[in-house]
Amino acid sequence: MKYNIRECSHSELTAIITENFRAPDPDLFELARAESLRNYQGRIFIRGLVEVSNYCKRDCLYCGIRRGNKELRRYRLAPEVILDCIENGYGLGLRSFVMQGGEDPGLTDEVMTEIIREFRRRFSDASLTLSLGEKSTEVYRAFFEAGADRYLLRHETASKAHYDRLHPPEMDFDARVRCLYALKKVGFQTGAGFMVGSPFQTVEDLARDLLFLKELEPHMVGLGPFIAQEDTPFAQYPSGGAAESLVMLALTKLMLPKAMLPATTALVTILKGDRKPIFDAGANVVMPNISPLDTRKLYTLYNGKVSTGAESTEGLANLVVQIKTAGYTPEFSRGDHVEYAH
Ligand code: 5AD
Repeated sequence: MKYNIRECSHSELTAIITENFRAPDPDLFELARAESLRNYQGRIFIRGLVEVSNYCKRDCLYCGIRRGNKELRRYRLAPEVILDCIENGYGLGLRSFVMQGGEDPGLTDEVMTEIIREFRRRFSDASLTLSLGEKSTEVYRAFFEAGADRYLLRHETASKAHYDRLHPPEMDFDARVRCLYALKKVGFQTGAGFMVGSPFQTVEDLARDLLFLKELEPHMVGLGPFIAQEDTPFAQYPSGGAAESLVMLALTKLMLPKAMLPATTALVTILKGDRKPIFDAGANVVMPNISPLDTRKLYTLYNGKVSTGAESTEGLANLVVQIKTAGYTPEFSRGDHVEYAH
């Protein structure tokens, strides 16, 4: 096989990425799409996303909700509001939900555990994904035991030196990696992920991301282009490319054929809302926003962030049409990884 990605060395991966960045090879996308069809039969899993808080104690240099951004008005949804958003999505037929937020000390682990417990009580046939940053193994276990199924924590870049250039000194790549292994051990379907075209990134770094994914074997991988946010130290850096992101998505699909891959908002943003090329590169998850409309514009990770809403019947219907028009099948179930049959 031309792309036996799982057998490639670091230098071979670097060469493949370089060639495809110069001129994307249609065969690469055909192979990635074939893996997606083989493992998920062309189904696109829909998950309702609630952005629970934009407070964050971290200061990642690329991120618009970093604590150092004093321009941003902060919000934290009350537990009832979070559950109301989900109730609304549930009423529209969604059975898979994501609670995502900054690392907000004001949304305590105890309160979060209660929210998860209440979610589980009220929506017993739905799945819950969390994306709330780095926590201790004990807290991850409490979240899991309360009824959460999945946890997303992007590794951001698998090169330690590069990680250090994207994050303040108190953040540590090894701590991030320990969290990812802890999440797997606790029993979560675990998601890692990285940005494409972040400042100082090299093709060698991207090859390392692929090898890191092979080693970790996450159940999900979120990847999208870096997009500058005007109130961050990286405001002036160029964004990552759509073509490059699609190449990395297809390579990720070949590295982890069973992984669930979201069409991330950053990639949808840079492609001006067109999801078809993303599905064609192997993505099989979409996460429409079901947060309250008035807080949505405050979750500004980067400039121009689109937020396709599914808070209304109409928003969700549009997404369903887009999926069907692209030649795929919208799927409203829990949406587990193939190896987690429920
Ligand atoms: N551009 C693209 N992605 C970003 N993220 C944060 N800031 C940016 C940005 N400026 C991504 C990170 C993080 C996720 C929540 O959003 O990868 O893990």
